[in-house]
Amino acid sequence: MEQSSNAPAQCDRRALPGLDPQVYAKWRASELGAITERIERRLMLELIGDVTGKRLLEVGCGDGALAVELAKRGAEVTGVDASERMIAAARERAREAGVPLALHLGPAEALPFKAEDFDMVVAQTILCFVADGSPAFGEIARVLKPGGRLVIGELGRWSSWAAERRVRAWLGSPLWQRGHFRTPGELKRLAEQAGLVPGPVHGAVYYPRIGIAARWMDPIDGVLGRVTKIGAAFLAISAEKPAVHA
Ligand SMILES: C[S@@+](CC[C@H](N)C(=O)[O-])C[C@H]1O[C@@H](n2cnc3c(N)ncnc32)[C@H](O)[C@@H]1O
Repeated sequence: MEQSSNAPAQCDRRALPGLDPQVYAKWRASELGAITERIERRLMLELIGDVTGKRLLEVGCGDGALAVELAKRGAEVTGVDASERMIAAARERAREAGVPLALHLGPAEALPFKAEDFDMVVAQTILCFVADGSPAFGEIARVLKPGGRLVIGELGRWSSWAAERRVRAWLGSPLWQRGHFRTPGELKRLAEQAGLVPGPVHGAVYYPRIGIAARWMDPIDGVLGRVTKIGAAFLAISAEKPAVHA
């Protein structure tokens, strides 16, 4: 695992209480988790498009589930995360899948890569644990090549999931006391402030945080996503770094 010299200290501060690879595995094994991950993954892959031969960075790659999928689809994938345990889990997942992943320990706010290094950057549910998204967006814009794209998926503010997690924060959950829920307008503004040109915001996951509700509403979730962003627990957006013209 490669890391920048001050990465461990920077990453210690960002370690998320109660969120480790085992918690993620348990979530995915539940009915609610499996349906939700599938719906979020479908929207992210739709926005990401064809990645064959692209140099792609996943920021906050966690245990590497999306990164491995993108490597299987032909991208040259690099993952970076602030958690050593997540990076170790991502390395193990890549080994089991038999795909190469370059993995780095590092913070989104100081990415350990040179400018204009990647054709695409993806990030999924990482800003929800970052109070000020501007430095991370600035770094993502820096490492993107001109004409490159960011695809980011985040937790939406106007949903029952965000309301429930806010209540958990008030009741003392250390993880959700660190939680941040964004509006479509905030995601667009963060992209614009970093010099990126955002496309439309897409919504998904409209059901309450209950397995049976997910099962019932799964078939119409995509339809709701075409109608409204209100109620969406998951928001995703694609934003382009303008190409430089001579
Ligand atoms: C909710 S998990 C999502 C993991 C993965 N993107 C996914 O969707 O499965 C959030 C991840 O972001 C990482 N993270 C949080 N804040 C970070 C930061 N400032 N810099 C880098 N990684 C961060 C955490 O360590 C964790 O792996």
